[in-house]
Amino acid sequence: MAETQSFGFVLSGRNTRAAADDGLQGDHDVFVAKKPMLQTMAVENDPAASLACVRHQFGEHGGVNMSIEASATFTVMEPETMRRMFSGELGPERDFFIYSRHFNPTVLNLGRQLAALEGTEAAYCTASGMSAISSVLLQLCSSGGHVVASATLYGGTHALLTHFLPRTCNITTTFVDITDHEAVKNAIVQGRTQVLFFESMSNPTLTVADIPELSKLAHDKGITVVVDNTFSPMVLSPARLGADVVVHSISKFISGGADVIAGAVCGPARLVNSMMDLHQGALMLLGPTMNAKVAFELSERIPHLGLRMKEHGRRAMEYATRMQKLGIKVVYPGLEDHPQHELLKSMANKEYGFGGLLYVDMESEERANRLMHHLQNSSQFGLIAVSLGYYETLMSCSGSSTSSELNDKEKALAGISPGLVRMSIGYTGTLEQKWSQFENAVFRMKDSSTMFKKI
Ligand SMILES: Cc1ncc(COP(=O)(O)O)c(C=O)c1O
Repeated sequence: MAETQSFGFVLSGRNTRAAADDGLQGDHDVFVAKKPMLQTMAVENDPAASLACVRHQFGEHGGVNMSIEASATFTVMEPETMRRMFSGELGPERDFFIYSRHFNPTVLNLGRQLAALEGTEAAYCTASGMSAISSVLLQLCSSGGHVVASATLYGGTHALLTHFLPRTCNITTTFVDITDHEAVKNAIVQGRTQVLFFESMSNPTLTVADIPELSKLAHDKGITVVVDNTFSPMVLSPARLGADVVVHSISKFISGGADVIAGAVCGPARLVNSMMDLHQGALMLLGPTMNAKVAFELSERIPHLGLRMKEHGRRAMEYATRMQKLGIKVVYPGLEDHPQHELLKSMANKEYGFGGLLYVDMESEERANRLMHHLQNSSQFGLIAVSLGYYETLMSCSGSSTSSELNDKEKALAGISPGLVRMSIGYTGTLEQKWSQFENAVFRMKDSSTMFKKI
């Protein structure tokens, strides 16, 4: 038989399905995982320990890596099986697949890793972070519904909530300062508000949300808590802290290569299954499907995510400390003067640091642009580019780029100054080599002595 299990490893071969099909062998359940495939064994609190519990899928020929299931469609032994699959009687939990816009085995396997990472019952991956966010909001909210959201969100998410959802679905949003819990409570409209949405660490202001308190507050009012954890995988585990759903732009740290656009929805199996429903599922019907080849590539990067996050965090902490000593106005959640430093310490998973993002406030867009020019073109400290989580340092002036969807009033409310330069700290080169490149660029700024008091 094609599937044997030992020590959490599953050897899976192509005959599994054929034998299981139509109950041709009465005892086939002995060989096919009985535990629903959408559920993972996320028993551990530490994300790395939890990832180590995910069953290791070997390749068709015993390869140490799983095989890629590249098929768009799947065959059955008997026509009757098709009817049973479409009625929901046979599904991916028993290795029955219909069509890859619905479940695909390789994408499902990546979903299991994401579920373990975030400590949720289930997860499924999508073609982008935005499609994960929009699909989950459409699944949880109905027409006329209401969202309470943080005023500081990635520009695309802000635009989705401000412009797109009200126009297309009559779903409206009240934006609040997520650190002001009274304001959050007051914004909730009993009987209408369906979701509380915020980023665990906000883009780009790096405000850290009090996930346990906000979750409690929302749950007291019967509201679902959705947290975007794109900035802090491994560092924070929102679902372990009380949130219901965690969304990711995998395009960032989880990918780490700045070569893939992808997303994920991690949450209760009931929610993930409902998103795949043939009649009502946002993922099934809107179709932001991840390609199986992409899922395979990404699943190979998950095992070293923890190591990468530690190094991003170690360098960000060191640079932020040194920048502060130079008199640069720097914001980093690892610094003691960050308003939520103690809160972050109380919520963070041990040993993963405080994240790979910091920002410096240059006070004007002109100065921000000049600094980025020197950092890229004079000293090769990093690249002027949006996005984050890459192995090279990436820098962008948020107000004129990834937060440009917000108008001036919304930017002021979100705390985004025109000179805010967001930096996603990479880990290539040595720390000292990169620091001397940073200093070199700063000294080239013609007004550096007035800008930075201590130079
Ligand atoms: C916090 C956050 N969430 C979601 C997204 C959207 O992700 P994607 O570009 O993968 O659609 C981004 C993109 O920058 C982001 O920064």
